[in-house]
Amino acid sequence: MPKHIIFDTDPGIDDALAILLALASPELNVDGIVTVHGNVSTEQTTENALAILELAGASHIPVYKGCDLPLVKESLLSPETHGDKGLGYANLPAPASKPQVKHGSDFLIERIMSQPNEITLVAIGPLTNVALALRKEPRIVENVKEVLVMGGAIQHAGNTTPLAEFNTFVDPHAAHVVFHSGIPITLTPLDVTYQCIFTADDLNRLLKIDSPITKYIADSTRFYMEFHDEYQSIQGCVINDPMTLALTFMPEICDYQNLVVDVDISTGVGLGNTFADFYNYEKKPANMRVAMGVRPRMFMDVFLERMEKLARSLS
Ligand code: BDR
Ligand code: CA
Repeated sequence: MPKHIIFDTDPGIDDALAILLALASPELNVDGIVTVHGNVSTEQTTENALAILELAGASHIPVYKGCDLPLVKESLLSPETHGDKGLGYANLPAPASKPQVKHGSDFLIERIMSQPNEITLVAIGPLTNVALALRKEPRIVENVKEVLVMGGAIQHAGNTTPLAEFNTFVDPHAAHVVFHSGIPITLTPLDVTYQCIFTADDLNRLLKIDSPITKYIADSTRFYMEFHDEYQSIQGCVINDPMTLALTFMPEICDYQNLVVDVDISTGVGLGNTFADFYNYEKKPANMRVAMGVRPRMFMDVFLERMEKLARSLS
């Protein structure tokens, strides 16, 4: 039986790759996609989610628009990382399909409550919708199967401020609500995702297949690679969100620690910083499982194989 997953996402170049990886994974059934502000506006992340589904021949999957603003803070988008429209140099046709009428946070509640212990939520953008859903219906804590969260930087430098990772910096108050809710979280911070780099060689391997999928991947990641080179001197691009999604069917790519993790919501240089109480000074029970080690090549081989398979099926 495939695992039922719902994405909460801000596509976003690596978010879109995570969606493609899920569609190429026989272990998974994507029940829906909820969009959020983050890399670009929610209007645009919604359009991008619909366009990616159409590209992959999966427009039967419903898309629900979520929050367009963080809970407390002002909005912060990331055009320098993902391009003005969020998918780098890719220029997909405007989608024919439309988002559902229901708000994304209500869809999360409805689906999780109607299928107790069956839904795996893959949250790869700022956590605004998830926090809102928790405030509206706290019982989702006991009814969701698992929540995979891409966010935070535990012992790694931030990628948005010296201390903070993008998703937690954009809505630190939402991350605070989610981290303290008791919901079963597996976190993939930058500590592991920054070891998963999609390189020019990886792209050339995919480009041996002539397909709209490989063309799209080339156009979107070219922008992302230029960003990584210019801002972080990384050759290639970090594919945070597909790595997070991969844990739904291949948890063995990471090593985990159960930790007490918090996020700084005080105003100051640490805003959005995520930190773990490694020595358990506060004598609290762990609030999440954190991926702190990864076998990057193991992940990348599966990612490439599945992208090749998807590309061939749509060439
Ligand atoms: C996260 O922020 C976004 O740029 C990516 O899509 C990813 O979810 C990495 O910090
Ligand atoms: Ca993302």
